[in-house]
Amino acid sequence: MSRALATSSTRQTHPLPAGLDPARLPAHVAVIMDGNGRWAQRRGLPRVVGHRAGVEALKRTLRLCSDWGVGALTAYAFSTENWNRPGEEVNFLMALFERVLQREIEGLEREEVCIRFLGDLEPLPLGLQNLIAKATARTAAGSGIRFNVCTNYGGRAELVRAARRLAQRAAEGELDPASIDEQCFAAELHTAGQLDPDLLIRTSGEHRISNFLLWQLAYAELHITDVLWPDFDGEALHAALLDYQNRQRRFGGVDPAP
Ligand code: IPE
Ligand code: IPE
Ligand code: MG
Repeated sequence: MSRALATSSTRQTHPLPAGLDPARLPAHVAVIMDGNGRWAQRRGLPRVVGHRAGVEALKRTLRLCSDWGVGALTAYAFSTENWNRPGEEVNFLMALFERVLQREIEGLEREEVCIRFLGDLEPLPLGLQNLIAKATARTAAGSGIRFNVCTNYGGRAELVRAARRLAQRAAEGELDPASIDEQCFAAELHTAGQLDPDLLIRTSGEHRISNFLLWQLAYAELHITDVLWPDFDGEALHAALLDYQNRQRRFGGVDPAP
């Protein structure tokens, strides 16, 4: 449990479920929150109702990760490809992000969450950009869980941006191209300074990464569940973490001798 959350909030915290080893939890969990539309359609409801339910699932997941001792949660909220959706759905999502952020800033601050928005934020509506700036500033000193919300995020766009920034510095004579290494490249990504995700969860049964964290997921463990994102709950997170704890991570090496 994060110290900050335990002391600064009176809300009930969730104990770590039996069977999970607190010493072997992922430090950083990334999640592709997929299946909102199908969740709604199965109920005969418009897709956007699924997005609203998806927000509740995200709040639940953030709380649980924080209470159980996961250090960082990175959630894919809107991809660079999601602009291809019908205008009505895109507009609904932008308005939803604004409403939710407005409503949640205070609670996030109180619970010491440190929120960051990763992606190209400039094409977002101005009102949303302002709220993002406000939430980022107000929670920057938060000593609790780090919460990255990937908004207008694309892994390829992020890599191109990093390459462009390095090329710019080289062109200005500030950087020797021969000195560019992995560390220096990673420092130009939106996730600069953060640990790579240990575990990637994708809901709704799709076996793809859809342009998410192409660099950072190099050695993440993948957990794919058929659960649709709005149904993602403590049980589903518990299952993902158990799955993770049963993996042998070798990073290209061999298992240690028994
Ligand atoms: C994920 O749910 C949310 C976003 C991409 C914003 P979807 O909207 O992709 O739901 P499905 O995949 O169509 O069911
Ligand atoms: C990935 O889901 C993007 C987000 C969850 C924000 P999509 O629903 O957009 O992915 P595809 O189109 O099925 O690959
Ligand atoms: Mg989808």
